[in-house]
Amino acid sequence: MRKPLPALLAAGLAAAAFTTSTQALAYGAGDFFARLGVAKVAPKSDNGELNLAGLDPSLSSYGVNVEDDTGFAFTLGYRFHDNVGVELLAALPFKHDFQVDGVTGGSTKHLPPTLTVQYYPLGGTAALVQPYVGVGVNYTRFSSEKTDIGLDLDLSSSWGAAGQVGVDLLINDNWALNAAAWYIDIDTDAKIEGVDVGTIKIDPLVVMGGISYRF
Ligand code: NI
Repeated sequence: MRKPLPALLAAGLAAAAFTTSTQALAYGAGDFFARLGVAKVAPKSDNGELNLAGLDPSLSSYGVNVEDDTGFAFTLGYRFHDNVGVELLAALPFKHDFQVDGVTGGSTKHLPPTLTVQYYPLGGTAALVQPYVGVGVNYTRFSSEKTDIGLDLDLSSSWGAAGQVGVDLLINDNWALNAAAWYIDIDTDAKIEGVDVGTIKIDPLVVMGGISYRF
């Protein structure tokens, strides 16, 4: 004959474990999280002009067009309050082709780490749809700058403001689907063969879709 006490104890322990894990995994304070996805970096449409007269007096100003790139990106973050967190956007370097109208094309790689402080209006609640907004700062470093006509190109590093919106669609205690977008102010001073030729305004919209994991 089964004794009721162990069964009650077992049920009580299970309930306690469930309650504990639910509390530990509430979407909010104390969560570390990582988001992984595919991100498209789309520079704004008008990227400024380069004045090449300093290189050759027969040249003047030419429009610049920086093209999109898509690649893997990931973020790491922490919520130190149910409604407030920080997140760092990282990625493998993106490679952008560009055109200087009628003069040359080229390409550059860049790495755009972006740190945002975020507000989660529904953090700490049982909501399965968890939106957030963030503001912060971006540092972008350029590398492997190239022109198709073999002239040396140097792009200065950029510090700028960033804004962010995103949403987690919770699947279970750990996993969520994620969509996020950042607007980042990235401007870089260009030198060709050591001559200042102007500022390129990249100011991209970064759109990422992927998954979130929190622990
Ligand atoms: Ni700008």
